[in-house]
Amino acid sequence: MKIKKFINKKNKTKIVALTAYSKNIASVLDNYCDLILVGDSLGSVLYNYKSTKEVTLNTIIEHSKSVRMGIKRSLMIVDMPYNTYRNPKEALKNAKLIMKKTKSDGVKLEGGKKITKIINTLVKNNIPVMGHLGVLPQSDKKFKFKGENKVEKENILRDAKLLEQSGAFSMVLECIETSLAKLVTDSIGIPTIGIGASKNCDGQILVFDDLIGLNPIKVRFVKKYTNIKRELSKAVSKYANDVKKRKFPSKKYSY
Ligand code: KIV
Repeated sequence: MKIKKFINKKNKTKIVALTAYSKNIASVLDNYCDLILVGDSLGSVLYNYKSTKEVTLNTIIEHSKSVRMGIKRSLMIVDMPYNTYRNPKEALKNAKLIMKKTKSDGVKLEGGKKITKIINTLVKNNIPVMGHLGVLPQSDKKFKFKGENKVEKENILRDAKLLEQSGAFSMVLECIETSLAKLVTDSIGIPTIGIGASKNCDGQILVFDDLIGLNPIKVRFVKKYTNIKRELSKAVSKYANDVKKRKFPSKKYSY
């Protein structure tokens, strides 16, 4: 039902999505988001890994358990880490584990033509799947936006149609060219959620830590809506000052 409602937003209202890795953040985002993704971007954002490939199944499950506690209304989707869905059998075993342990509403997988059988297997087993096309951090060697040339364009459009046919309920389009985002979005019946993929998508997603200016990332597609690092600094500096000057804890904060 939740998934159906989500799909029905296509062509009616723009879809709002963000990543979260923990309960308290998720509980704030839940008031504004249609979808919250426990993305494997947590590997670079929280653990300083060079790539998302280092994120393990256990790590994503533990963060997702925390996020679950903060969500009441949004759809919660969990990224399947690298090497956890190399074939239908492995994907089903690991997706079932994610769904059972995290009570998420579905999983997200990166790739097109190569993973259609895998998606089909999960969907047949009642596991909702979100696809991910364009820049694929789990397999691309270096970052380069996609859809510059005819072959890339044709492949992404073909893959988007294949993902829909395989049963995916939605897909992320990461860093693809503006006209291609429109072509894909207009060619399929499920919502496209863009990140660096123009406003021609059905919805948008950003990594939350990027949006608040906590993660020191400088890429074209990230708009920083606040400089939370500066706000945090102010608070911590006041606290340090109070401690040094013996102002904290005052009577009010003591027993
Ligand atoms: O891992 C992630 O956070 C993602 C988003 C960037 C879509 O896949």
